Amino acid sequence: MAENRILLLPGDGIGPEITKEALKVLKVIEKITNTSFEIKEALIGGQAIDDKGDPLPIETINELKQTNAVLLAAIGGYKWDNLPNEQKPEKGLLRLRKELDAFVNIRPAKVFSALADASTLKREVINGVDILVLRELTGGIYFGNPRGVSSINGESACLNTMIYKEEEIKRIVKCACEQAMKRSKKLCSVDKANVLEVSQFWRDITIQTVKNDYSEIELTHMYVDNAAMQLIRNPKQFDVIVTSNLFGDILSDESAMLTGSIGLLPSASIGDGSKPGIFEPVHGSAPDIAGQGKANPIAMILSLAMLLDNAFAMNKEAKLIQNAVEKVLKQGHRTSDIAEEGVTPISTSQMGDKIAETLIL
Ligand code: IPM
Ligand code: MN
Repeated sequence: MAENRILLLPGDGIGPEITKEALKVLKVIEKITNTSFEIKEALIGGQAIDDKGDPLPIETINELKQTNAVLLAAIGGYKWDNLPNEQKPEKGLLRLRKELDAFVNIRPAKVFSALADASTLKREVINGVDILVLRELTGGIYFGNPRGVSSINGESACLNTMIYKEEEIKRIVKCACEQAMKRSKKLCSVDKANVLEVSQFWRDITIQTVKNDYSEIELTHMYVDNAAMQLIRNPKQFDVIVTSNLFGDILSDESAMLTGSIGLLPSASIGDGSKPGIFEPVHGSAPDIAGQGKANPIAMILSLAMLLDNAFAMNKEAKLIQNAVEKVLKQGHRTSDIAEEGVTPISTSQMGDKIAETLIL
């Protein structure tokens, strides 16, 4: 297999628009590094339901075996909201994560100082925030069995199961420790151990893992309700956060919003390295603005940067892209989600052009 393969999954809503902008940036990277990527495209989500009757069709699964990395834009939309759970676009994404054993989801929330006033919080609270949320991605209540409609003593009911096995906790805590070692060596594990047995277990295993393998790390624990509050009250107290699937879903949206817009944040979902990772924006498919040129392509472009860094060891190029984004923001260019009052927003493709141009400079 060629070494430089990327599988694109543009998906639904604003997905195709922002994918186009990431490709512009990739073209420039190819030019300046004199490398070329083999790019393929496949279906996922609502588009895949419409075309193939399945949110993760077999054709896409087969492509996963032929690629080094997956760049996914977004899935879902009103059109598919009323389908049964198993057939929803979201199921395609969940199956993709499981298929690739992508058990750790890395979601950085870094405030660009040029945008510190775009946040709903005060500049002094958020300026300098640089948090890494590590969310467990293939376990917990998202995947636990039993699940679904049931009946208890003849009364209809419904249930989900929050379950974690020791190994599932250990492997993500180790990833979190690796990240923490490269940063401030501070790790905060978020749980609900005052109520949930599964959280108490999470806490015990986390303590043991850190003690055994990463004794240099300063480990703290926080209940998820308190963490949600502390993120707004004083986000700078956090560096690396590790947490379970559901809590991480919620807290990563919250920490994304500290930066001003969820349209800015990338993510990486990776496993043990034997299968390709998935790189995607934290935001969704934004069907309300799809096709209008209003979407912010920055999260997608930064996801490409994470992909290059992670899947192809192109750390330098990833930095170049991040710097280009920062520069364009400093110059005052804004898409509508981050435009301050009185600033005329530029379109999705204009933002892509600006970033691509800045890369060449
Ligand atoms: C995310 C999304 C997904 C999740 C949905 C679309 C299934 O919210 O990636 O955070 O809950 O994991
Ligand atoms: Mn989410």
